[in-house]
Amino acid sequence: MSTWANLGLQDSASPLMEQLIFFHDHALLILVMITVLVGYLMFMLFFNSYINRFLLHGQLIEMIWTILPAIILVFIAFPSLRLLYLLDEINEPSVTLKSIGHQWYWSYEYSDFNDIEFSSYMIPTNELETDGFRLLDVDNRIVLPMNSQIRILVTAADVIHSWTIPALGVKVDGTPGRLNQTNFFMNRPGLFYGQCSEICGANHSFMPIVIESVPVNYFINWISKNLNS
Ligand code: CUA
Repeated sequence: MSTWANLGLQDSASPLMEQLIFFHDHALLILVMITVLVGYLMFMLFFNSYINRFLLHGQLIEMIWTILPAIILVFIAFPSLRLLYLLDEINEPSVTLKSIGHQWYWSYEYSDFNDIEFSSYMIPTNELETDGFRLLDVDNRIVLPMNSQIRILVTAADVIHSWTIPALGVKVDGTPGRLNQTNFFMNRPGLFYGQCSEICGANHSFMPIVIESVPVNYFINWISKNLNS
């Protein structure tokens, strides 16, 4: 999760988020180079005294500063497209989780396991334990196995919500009457926090998401415990 003074991206917990971070750094580096170059040129303009009487045109420089930006854009476009299609790839998921956005909480269904379903509300500040995270912890966490491909189906019951987990690189809108799909793969255990990121009403800020990433046998235990109750 994000803590104070964390201005960059969160540490990734999935291969796709790792790729997203690589792309972010790549694009940022290009951005810095452009900013430095343009900044230098603009600064040097202050010292231009306009004394060259014979300077009427410059075919070569015009050619360069037209084609060069196009070439630079190609170096952003192709990695971006690669990532776009990589994010959309579904690799034979072993578990499917359906998350439904409501005003203002999420509810979840494990349709693979005889319809385990529950809703997940934010824990109000005055009911928090001392080790709880304010505005981020929920009463019922999602439990999912690590090192497995997981499919997420997102929809909503009232208005548009967005199911977003920064550490996993997942951000999918839940829209009433539609069923959106995405997938992820958690490569380490832990708690991964997320929030709704579609302005969905007065308590938009108060519908967080918590995923408990556990080893597969723990997950099977959790499932069988919930099947019996
Ligand atoms: Cu749900 Cu914002």
